[in-house]
This record gives sequence, structure tokens and C-alpha cells, in this order.
Amino acid sequence: MAEVNTIGVLTSGGDAPGMNACIRSVVRSALTAGKKVKGIRRGYSGLLEEDIIDMDSHSVSDILQRGGTILYTARCPEMIKPEYQDKAAEICRKNGIDGLVVIGGDGSFRGAARLAERGINTIGLPGTIDNDIACTEYTIGFDTAVNTAMECIDKIRDTSTSHERCSIIEVMGRGAGYIAEWCGIANGAEEILIAETYDNDVNAIMERVKSMRAKGKKHYIIVNAESVGHSYEMAKQIQEGTGMDTRATVLGHIQRGGSPTARDRVYATMFGAKAVDLLIQGKSKRVVGYMSGKFVDFDVEQALAMTKSIDPWLLSLNSRMERI
Ligand code: ADP
Ligand code: F6P
Repeated sequence: MAEVNTIGVLTSGGDAPGMNACIRSVVRSALTAGKKVKGIRRGYSGLLEEDIIDMDSHSVSDILQRGGTILYTARCPEMIKPEYQDKAAEICRKNGIDGLVVIGGDGSFRGAARLAERGINTIGLPGTIDNDIACTEYTIGFDTAVNTAMECIDKIRDTSTSHERCSIIEVMGRGAGYIAEWCGIANGAEEILIAETYDNDVNAIMERVKSMRAKGKKHYIIVNAESVGHSYEMAKQIQEGTGMDTRATVLGHIQRGGSPTARDRVYATMFGAKAVDLLIQGKSKRVVGYMSGKFVDFDVEQALAMTKSIDPWLLSLNSRMERI
């Protein structure tokens, strides 16, 4: 087993709060173990363009608390093609990078797997606000995104109540409803719409709006997942169908920024250190997950073949919180 001497780190796909804390952890853990560290900017795009910097302990000073990623991130369609994967592996070798930590989502892990097959030891770490990575219960950035969205929804609720309105708030999550489900519960929403369960029955929603209104409810908060979408059309339909003044707000990229929560900082630090440990142990083509209170690692293909779904009990919880 060849010893890893120089560890590279990159962030790829959508950024997530806590990525900086994770970069810091990779850099400092690797340096502490006597390894050299190189930062690759703008994900696989930067790797293909050889945008590679030496990193020392100072390179990651004062970033633990900052949102975004100091290494920048990008989506790089070329990386899907074998000839570019060959080139990327060659660039790693040329720069002495024999171990690589990839912080991102499933797509980024696929790129890491292709590099591992070309002799570069790679470890993937789950970094996405969507929490949609099957091999882990927790992804870096999810907690901050939920807290950011929750605070926004609290504010919308204030004005919604004052005006006795219905408010639809659309949150991110790509295909997955985790952010919506968590916000819906944290904000005491009257409805949570996620693609996993929503039956597209706007009429049923309108009936519930009218019934709650009749009971004297002063607002009606609908947290709508990006995967369901159509928030503005839905608002128009509900206003026309119920007579209740209705507004839609799409929270958008505000959910991706901001200072990470303590939970994101700590988990990001643990994930980063774990990746360095695995590289030092000679492991490659692995993804680190957090399952039932433990950090575990999986072969990338095994991780990508896994599925996960929102706990049915969690999904049923909000209906038990209704005012009767
Ligand atoms: P995420 O990592 O958040 O899932 P993407 O799906 O956008 O985000 O993937 C990020 C990057 O990972 C892509 O832009 C591409 O460079 C690389 N990637 C995605 N899929 C593959 C693949 N099948 N093979 C190699 N690289 C891939
Ligand atoms: O994966 C993170 C995420 O913010 C998703 O929730 C959202 O669908 C997507 O990225 C938005 O991507 P972009 O930054 O390209 O608008």
C-alpha cells in the first residue's frame, strides 16, 4: 500500500455552509499528520485547468465561521467524459497529489470514483444543503439551510398573520423534501408539500384553507418544496378559490449562504478529519457517511446505489400538530 504524501482538497457542485470548516479540517488534520496539502479551486473545472494552490495552516485561518467555500466551486460537464478523467488524474500526478478529498454531492462522488480508478486515492464527503445523499443521515450545510429558511418563514408568518393571509414559501432541496419537511415542522406550517408525498390536489388544500379560516385561523402557512414548485401559480389558484389573500415567496439562494451553525461546523470538522484518517490508512474510492451516531465509510458505487427516504413517522408528525 503506497503511502499518501500530498492530499488535495476540492469543493464541487452547489456550495453549502460548513464547506469552509471542512476544508480547514482537512488541511489542518493533514498537516498535523505531516502531509502536504494542495487546494484545487473551482472543483473539477479548476483541476482540469490546473488551478492548484499550496495550502498551509494559515491558508485556512479565519474561515471556520464563514459560509461559501474559499476554494470556490463549479459544475464541470467535461469531467463526465473519460478523456477528461484521464487528464484530471494526470494533473493530480503531475502535482504530486496522491490523495484527494472531494466535498460535494453524488455527482462529485462519481468524479472521485473515476479518479480512484485511475490511481488517485479519493475520499468523498457529503456537502450539500439538500441532505439528499443516501449513505448518510447528515450532510454538511443542511442544518444551516434549515435554520436560515426557518428564520425567514418566521418573518413571513408575522406579516401573514397581520394581513390574515395565506403564504406559500418555497424552499430548496432539488428533488428531495428534507428542507421543506424540517422547516414545515420547525415553523408550525399548516401544510408541507413535498414531491415524495404531494398528490397535486390543490382543491383539497383550498378546502382546508377555508375550513381553518372558518375556525378563525389568522394565517395559513404552506411550506412548498422546490421539487413541487409552481408556488406563484398555486398562490393565484388559492386566492381565487378561497377568497383568502395569498402570497408566494421563493426563498432561493439565501438558503445556501451564511455563517454555518455549530452543528454544521462540528460535523464538517469531524468529516474532514475522518477523510484524512482514511487516506492515511490507504483507503480509496470511499464516501464517508454519518449513520446512527457513527461515521462510516462506503465504497462509492455502494454509496450511490443506496436509497433513502424521509422517515414516515416524521412525515406524519405535522398532521398531529393541527389546532383542533
Ligand atoms: P453534486 O456533486 O452536488 O451532486 P453535480 O451533480 O452538479 O453536483 O456534480 C458536480 C460535478 O461532479 C459535475 O459538474 C461533474 O464535474 C462531476 N460529475 C457529475 N457526474 C459525473 C459522472 N458521472 N462522472 C464524472 N464526474 C461527474
Ligand atoms: O443542491 C443544492 C441546490 O441549492 C439545490 O437545492 C437547488 O436545486 C440547486 O442547488 C440550485 O442550483 P444553482 O446554484 O445552480 O441555482
